[in-house]
Amino acid sequence: MPHYILSIDQGTTSTRAIVFDGSGHRVASAQAELKQHFPADGWVEHDAMDIWWATETVCRDALRKGGLHARDIAAIGITNQRETTVLWDRANGMPVHRAIVWQDRRTGERCAELKAQGYEPLIQARTGLLLDPYFSATKLAWLLDHVPNARARAERGELAFGTIDSWLLWKLTHGQVHATDATNASRTLLFNIRTQCWDEELLHLFNIPAAVLPVVKDSSADFGLCAPDFLGAPIPICGMAGDQQAALIGQACFAPGMVKSTYGTGCFMMTNTGTTLVQSDNRLLTTVAYRLNGQTTYAVEGSIFVAGATIQWLRDGLKLIENASDTQAIAEATGDARGVYMVPAFTGLGAPYWDPRARGAIFGLTRDTGIGEIVTAGLQSVCFQTRDLMEAMTRDGASKVTTLRIDGGMVVNNWVAQSLADIIGVPVDRPVVTETTALGAAFLAGLQVGIFASLDAISALWSCDRRFEPSMNEDKRSSLYVGWLDAVRRVASEPI
Ligand code: G3P
Repeated sequence: MPHYILSIDQGTTSTRAIVFDGSGHRVASAQAELKQHFPADGWVEHDAMDIWWATETVCRDALRKGGLHARDIAAIGITNQRETTVLWDRANGMPVHRAIVWQDRRTGERCAELKAQGYEPLIQARTGLLLDPYFSATKLAWLLDHVPNARARAERGELAFGTIDSWLLWKLTHGQVHATDATNASRTLLFNIRTQCWDEELLHLFNIPAAVLPVVKDSSADFGLCAPDFLGAPIPICGMAGDQQAALIGQACFAPGMVKSTYGTGCFMMTNTGTTLVQSDNRLLTTVAYRLNGQTTYAVEGSIFVAGATIQWLRDGLKLIENASDTQAIAEATGDARGVYMVPAFTGLGAPYWDPRARGAIFGLTRDTGIGEIVTAGLQSVCFQTRDLMEAMTRDGASKVTTLRIDGGMVVNNWVAQSLADIIGVPVDRPVVTETTALGAAFLAGLQVGIFASLDAISALWSCDRRFEPSMNEDKRSSLYVGWLDAVRRVASEPI
């Protein structure tokens, strides 16, 4: 009986495959960087074929490194960067355009237009989301309007739309299955999270033909078999979730009130609200946390567009550091940003501001500002943005967060984890497995094939590597945060 699970984690900047065993331990992994395309200011694209080829390569590499064969793998789980929009030809399985990435702002004007026409309350009530270019619907409409013949072909049923999960599923099954799961569907602006169906009125509003849409399934479900030529034998695909929802599952945040924050390219804080759909008054998102056995669990989410991407920019853009891991030693040696604030609004501001026209800035420079202060300010910006989200959740009436579970590439940096605890004033727990996104997808797939008996069994596998207690005094915490709020006000395109 095979007892390993292969998890595909297709993120914004990389594609990874990780094999987990039945205790949630990592057995082998492989990773490939993903090329980013920036064709215009605020535009971000990925080549969907690159994504597929990288997926094939990393899955094969991970099995090879682990000395494993397809017959050892009980199931595949998929987790993915959400909202990123792919439109492909059903006949030849080729994308008709590069994928438009979640960070892409090209449809900002269209969103502003719909907002001015008063559609946001309806959209928020049906989808839990806001009118922002972040989500898929306006990206898909853009593709249908700009790719020659796309709209007519879509109406004839010749084209398929999907977020990255659907795209990979299509390729893995050689075009046999066009499906998504409820978490990914909930990020499109087209899915009614109350009825759990595609919403006809919204399809009409965004001018999207229903013929392009995938079938929506539970997050643990039978998604079909991968083609035998993928890894040498067919393997059932049994788990699927957007990466932030997968991280919530990987962090075992199954009880209402439990909260996690993931620091990848962006930062996404999510609080489980159980079967209650909580609508935010503070511009947070309501989203599907997971859907199991037809039962939907909801979450409230704060989405920040730039977290780890700040460090990437310090490394690749400014060339201030050689490796991301250097930042811990630099921040430890600098100690304090000494009044320097960086607002990394490279692609606008996400929650709770939702300002697509804002752009980044660094404030408080003096003659003695050096690389240390700028790097420290970059790291701190992630902590301040987390505090923004926590404050918004509190204003929405959430009970006080008692601990925050953190994960993602950035949290191996002890300075960041400690600074987070200091700036939000709440203990921060870092789990043993920080690749919780991939782990969550493995849990979902493993639930379906019986490797994990229940959510309780999964909770029992979660363990804390280290707790970071707040050690900053309240005066300093408040004055630093006041400085941050002032910096944000200065980059905003409209008064906050
Ligand atoms: O909503 C976008 C999010 O899913 C991207 O996550 O991990 O690629 O930054 P990540």
